[in-house]
Amino acid sequence: MKRTHHCAQLSAADLGSSVSLIGWVDSIRDHGGILFIDLRDRKGITQVKFDPHVNAALGAQAATLKPESVIGVSGTIVARPEGTVNKTLPTGAIEVDAAELTIHNLSETPPFPLDDVGGDKVNEDLRLTYRYLDLRRPKMRKNLQVRHKATKAIRDYFDAQEFIEVETPALFKSTPEGAREYLVPSRIHPGEFYALSQSPQQFKQILMVAGVERYFQIARCFRDEDLRADRQMEFTQVDVEASFITREDVYRLFEGMVRKVWLDVLGTDLATPFQRMAYSEAMNRFGVDKPDLRFGLELTDLSDTFKDSAFKVFQATVAGGGVIKAINAKGLADLTQGELKNLEDIAKSLGAKGLAFIKAEKGEWKSPIVKFFSEAEKSALTAKLGIEEGDVVFFAAATWDKACAILGRIRLEAAQLLVKRGKMTIRHEDWRFLWVIDFPLMSYDEERGGYAATHHPFTSPVPEDIAFLDSDPRKVRGQHYDLVLNGMELGGGSIRIHQPALQKKVFEDVLKIPADVVESRFGYMLKAFTFGAPPHGGIAFGLDRMVALLCGTTSIRDVIAFPKTQRGQDLMAQSPTPVTAKQLKELHIQTVIPE
Ligand code: AMO
Ligand code: AMP
Repeated sequence: MKRTHHCAQLSAADLGSSVSLIGWVDSIRDHGGILFIDLRDRKGITQVKFDPHVNAALGAQAATLKPESVIGVSGTIVARPEGTVNKTLPTGAIEVDAAELTIHNLSETPPFPLDDVGGDKVNEDLRLTYRYLDLRRPKMRKNLQVRHKATKAIRDYFDAQEFIEVETPALFKSTPEGAREYLVPSRIHPGEFYALSQSPQQFKQILMVAGVERYFQIARCFRDEDLRADRQMEFTQVDVEASFITREDVYRLFEGMVRKVWLDVLGTDLATPFQRMAYSEAMNRFGVDKPDLRFGLELTDLSDTFKDSAFKVFQATVAGGGVIKAINAKGLADLTQGELKNLEDIAKSLGAKGLAFIKAEKGEWKSPIVKFFSEAEKSALTAKLGIEEGDVVFFAAATWDKACAILGRIRLEAAQLLVKRGKMTIRHEDWRFLWVIDFPLMSYDEERGGYAATHHPFTSPVPEDIAFLDSDPRKVRGQHYDLVLNGMELGGGSIRIHQPALQKKVFEDVLKIPADVVESRFGYMLKAFTFGAPPHGGIAFGLDRMVALLCGTTSIRDVIAFPKTQRGQDLMAQSPTPVTAKQLKELHIQTVIPE
């Protein structure tokens, strides 16, 4: 079972050598009884020849092989005949003339092709059920390697900056104000529960109180959220915290980390510092707090233009404190009825009453609403949106938040439609990093009728705004920052509150958490802050998201060895599953299964 070489190593320089290789049968070709087998290991492929005319017994043994079987082969390196050299393979000039074959495991026929193209076409559920086969595909193997390299670059970077990696517990206490948690029943304390840590946030702040000064961790986090392409219930953060740092220090530190990762993994030297943009500007121009800057199609505010409009929907919206926003999807006037209907449905799912539009086609405007517009409104529209033949303009009349959210999404959909038509290109290697800054500390939750922390309740207000905490919390800016790359939120963090009185004020006076609840949930933290808590701040990066972008995929499932499906299932090992009555009894738990 010992190899002398791996399968990407041998070349014409090795002609005549005796070698032993081991690996998987990648493919079998039968040329008139002579079998050519591509043998694959983690490094590459080498061709092996079995000639029954030379060794009948060996030929017969090789004829029993099936793809994906595991074999060991010994033989001599010979040159491939003229005209059969494969220039695309590092080992394409040679082959192994087999003298001996050991079959370690004869494989069943795999349920789907294990090449990149064939494997990409099959249903993801099938790939996840047979993940061990899926991971044999070159692309998936490469994704695992990229993840390893990125993680190593991160560890090396922080080590060089004198950060130390500290592990924090996965079993934590329940803090229900964040994302929904996974609860773990305690056997020893009947009726009591741990929660799986959503992030090491509180521990990393406590480590600052403990004097660690520079902490990082590649940390597993758990959140019971609705799953999407960029969200898993169990994911990995690059979690960092440091004492005595400012926002500027954090930007520099993380730009350095990202630069090293891109350099080590892709050989790409990114330009720093990264662009920065205020939250309000991101929302106004792109309709989201994680704008994709690789293309335009920016939002335009037309509230002024339409505040006295004869089109009542627009006029009334502005009169009621709302806004009129629009985007010009340049060159998309040829969108089909189906595509338009789909955009309308998306807008409605985000709370829009409709999605008014204007198509500039054949020298005229086709639109259900232009009949209400005055000449002055029409020329203002043309000027502000730069409307030309072939364009289509979409409008949202709603509250500022809603109008931003609706058109932010329409912008992304319109870009995809333009890409599909070849009218726009969006390259994944066009790395447009962006710090989004100047978030409001609090946002007002209309439904609940109260303030909620925009980031989390530990975020420090900008010192000059602290006075507004009592009078108008909406005016308080937070020391919070997000790092965004090509429309994906890669990371977020903040400078924290380190003064116990201010932290208590945020919990009790602004967030209106009752004092006894604050005491039971955060009492230990408030107490820790009374024993010499240094000013501190940090950030956490979504490692899965970063690796996905490095690999050019939009699904983090492609860069996690064993992800869950959108429905939270492990299709390979089959979980979740019911457990026995005995197990439940030990945990003091009864279940009520809904009808
Ligand atoms: P936050 O909640 O913004 O901050 O998370 C930080 C980053 O983690 C990634 N992320 C996820 N990735 C995959 N699946 C998920 N379900 C998921 N949820 C989050 C994102 C996100 O930007 N403790 C704070 C950080 C801090 O303040 O230092 C925190 O957890 O890329
Ligand atoms: P209506 O007057 O309701 O027939 O609407 C005329 C057009 O305006 C339709 O295309 C609607 O989809 C669109 N529309 C209605 N309300 C809004 C709104 N709040 N924002 C954007 N478009 C709207």
